[in-house]
Amino acid sequence: MVVTGGTGFVGSHVAVELLAAGADVVLVDNLANSAPSVADEVSALGGGTAPLYEVDVCDTEALTKIFAEYGTDAVVHCAGLKAVAESVSEPVRYWDVNVGGAVSVLQAMASAGVHDIVFSSSATVYGNPDQVPIAEDAALRPANPYGQTKLAVEQLLQHAAAAGGCRAISLRYFNPVGAHPSGRIGELPNDVPNNLMPRLLDVATGAMDVLPVWGNDYATPDGTAIRDYLHVCDLAVGHVAALAAFDRVPASTAVNLGTGQGHSVLEVIAALEGVIGHELPVRIAERRSGDVPATVADPSLAEHLFGWRADRTLHAMVRDAWHHRARVVGIPF
Ligand code: WQD
Repeated sequence: MVVTGGTGFVGSHVAVELLAAGADVVLVDNLANSAPSVADEVSALGGGTAPLYEVDVCDTEALTKIFAEYGTDAVVHCAGLKAVAESVSEPVRYWDVNVGGAVSVLQAMASAGVHDIVFSSSATVYGNPDQVPIAEDAALRPANPYGQTKLAVEQLLQHAAAAGGCRAISLRYFNPVGAHPSGRIGELPNDVPNNLMPRLLDVATGAMDVLPVWGNDYATPDGTAIRDYLHVCDLAVGHVAALAAFDRVPASTAVNLGTGQGHSVLEVIAALEGVIGHELPVRIAERRSGDVPATVADPSLAEHLFGWRADRTLHAMVRDAWHHRARVVGIPF
């Protein structure tokens, strides 16, 4: 099994679960947004050895050699760029890496005789939904280049599968947060974080003075936006379940991975305050451009196809996220 983006936030947790399930795992990552030391943690936590190749997914020749050398049976493709705002300012780079990278992976798979791919897609393919919870047959209206690249790859996979070139499962992640309960791997972006959880953790450690709450005038119970936060370990287990389901799903399918339960920004802040035992400095600010009031998954198809359902709570998500970050900065936990 090859995991691209294997030292990244999601890829590393997927690799741990695959190792724990007895799979042979190879990590491929260009280390643009992660550290090589994560590979050692993955091997230790998964109870196996996951070699790391510092390779960019756009290097088709290098990918082909790795797939052929290990007799790869499937690829979990997590490598990509994921900052929405950055995708607006750098659309060409996002299409090059996210779509060009997927083309390169598929070309290497074809050359090496690999047929199965699980793709890291995103709920951003839905854009601003007409209703929540969101099922997979909802309108696909990505509202930014990041979401458009995810949809483009899903469509590419549909076409490749229809041509008989592969079997593809696209997993539409809602909002992955949290960390492995050991605290040894988690979300640690090299760049300036855009997402709520890493920014909230920056405030909790003092790396950021105050958290701007981007909008409290949404039509939600407390006025702040609602998201379907999903523990990254639940997300990782969902990948293992998807890999086991290829023989009983269509040649190409897209499946939500979410909890089906929404939480507001203020609820997430309160949950972390409950874990660390004190209030966090926040201020109400203007809405962030492009944000939507609420996105919550209908997770029933994943349960039907994979027998998978998320079961970790918001408390577990913020507790594990804090445990990892506290460990990184040396705060007693
Ligand atoms: C959540 C809520 C913000 C920071 C991301 C991206 C992409 C995707 C996950 C995979 C929103 C609010 C945030 C802050 C805030 N990943 N917020 N103050 O908006 O769902 O987008 O989803 O595909 O990374 O699409 O997640 O974590 O950026 O924001 O008030 O300092 O927190 O406005 O309402 P989002 P997010």
